[in-house]
Amino acid sequence: MNERRYRLNGQTCADAGPPERRLLDILREDHALTAAKPGCGIGRCGACTVLVDGLPVNACLVMAYRLDGREIVTAEVASGWPEMAIVRAALIAENAFQCGYCAPGITFALAALLRRAPESDDGAIRAALVGHLCRCTGYTAILRAAARVFAGP
Ligand code: FES
Ligand code: FES
Repeated sequence: MNERRYRLNGQTCADAGPPERRLLDILREDHALTAAKPGCGIGRCGACTVLVDGLPVNACLVMAYRLDGREIVTAEVASGWPEMAIVRAALIAENAFQCGYCAPGITFALAALLRRAPESDDGAIRAALVGHLCRCTGYTAILRAAARVFAGP
């Protein structure tokens, strides 16, 4: 069986398990990284968001055979980014969540956008949130928080 080598939160890792195993399971079961949540499991909710080569991706859709040479960052590391603190503060100020299940994915997606493209407009913000399902809030407060983030200090 071929071994895949990849970087995870700055560390070199190797995976020789089944090629069809999901990155989401590898993170949670092999590395005890549980910030990416198992929600729908079919790429529809965004609860399992991680960065792969700098872009947000659903970890439930990434199979092990695609990991070779990739750079993966999880919310455990991103939680220390200044952008994460800015996004969190805005979401709290807007009281943007109820149950909070969608919160890790939405927070991570917005922080990644702020880091990558701090001048993003409303269209880019909405595009970054496509695929993030919130069953509780109706999105209005989340979008208000996002607008607050990208409006700057
Ligand atoms: S669990 Fe991956 S998108 Fe829902
Ligand atoms: S606050 Fe419950 S799913 Fe978003």
